[in-house]
Amino acid sequence: MVRTLTGALLLIAASFVAGCCANSDQIGRNSSNSETLPTGNESCGHRYYESDFPIDSRLYEHPWLALFGYKQKDIVSYVFQGLLIHPKYVLTTVFVAQFRDLGQLTYVRIGEHNTSTVIDCEKQHSKEETCAPVVQTIHIDEVIVHPDYNMFRQTNDVALIKLRLPATFDGISVAPICLNRDSDMQSSFLLLTSWCGRRETGLSLIPKQYFMKAITPFECQRLMPHHTISLASEMFCIVFDERHTQSNDVEQEPNLRGGSGAPIYTVHEGNRILLIGLLSYGPRYPAKLHEPYIITPVAPFYNWFSEIIEGDLEKSMYTTST
Ligand SMILES: *[C@@H]1O[C@H](CO)[C@@H](O)[C@H](O)[C@H]1NC(C)=O
Ligand SMILES: *[C@@H]1O[C@H](CO)[C@@H](O)[C@H](O)[C@H]1NC(C)=O
Ligand SMILES: *[C@@H]1O[C@H](CO)[C@@H](O)[C@H](O)[C@H]1NC(C)=O
Repeated sequence: MVRTLTGALLLIAASFVAGCCANSDQIGRNSSNSETLPTGNESCGHRYYESDFPIDSRLYEHPWLALFGYKQKDIVSYVFQGLLIHPKYVLTTVFVAQFRDLGQLTYVRIGEHNTSTVIDCEKQHSKEETCAPVVQTIHIDEVIVHPDYNMFRQTNDVALIKLRLPATFDGISVAPICLNRDSDMQSSFLLLTSWCGRRETGLSLIPKQYFMKAITPFECQRLMPHHTISLASEMFCIVFDERHTQSNDVEQEPNLRGGSGAPIYTVHEGNRILLIGLLSYGPRYPAKLHEPYIITPVAPFYNWFSEIIEGDLEKSMYTTST
């Protein structure tokens, strides 16, 4: 059952003007609950924008969002997404890491915004046009799937993608996201970002961002009566927030096809982006608007991420000193 669901999300859109503001009172948290990985760099998750989260994300809005390049003969197809959490590591789901239909996972592209342009430019606040640095396309060195990943239950659905060369952080177009470490975190302010869209219209050229809300496991099962949803390891379900489900315009309806590995995040400490989870799987395409998506939380895996990254740091210190 779960396999069908997973396959369905495979290629898992909209354009309302969703003005809203980060309510940091609801989600404000003590900074000790979230930290960067041992990079010695506290500059994770800084937002370039002050308030709203429009459906069409803007240049520099998600400098931690990575796109994956699958290579088949001489053709490289860029789909799905992951999150830059360290100069040499991108976090995603196992489905994305093991996807083979478009060839071998070979590259990670970061600093990307509009996938149809080589240099991304945008007019900002009616001021002059700003252009971002050229994207960084980095060869993958290693795909590390969580050792306890369970394909049938989709538990421990996390993978780290190690890059051959470190990404260059410029703090604006390329920067790491902050990781939530607090397993008890309950946030009523959740967003999802992804290059996604219907088959007919294709994947969006720029990442879409949608307001989502968490629902109870009971509600989740009720909304998916024909599937057995098994939620272990703190996995949880989300649905689109009402503001995205009350339009009658089918063209504008959000659709998360292509959304595998998409970040579910909140805002903390005033205006920093905190990664809560990754989009693991969802309903068969074309999903109905009220159907739930299943999220892998990142908090339970923080130690696993650190062990791998720290282990790697130690190894490199060792090699350089001999
Ligand atoms: C965060 O919490 C820790 C321990 O609970 C406390 O020592 C620290 O002062 C707090 N920091 C802030 C900024 O509130
Ligand atoms: C992306 O770039 C293409 C080509 O320049 C342009 O036609 C399109 O409007 C851009 N899309 C967005 C949403 O900025
Ligand atoms: C942290 O990252 C920023 C860019 O995001 C960089 O300017 C700064 O030098 C880094 N600091 C350390 C200690 O690595």
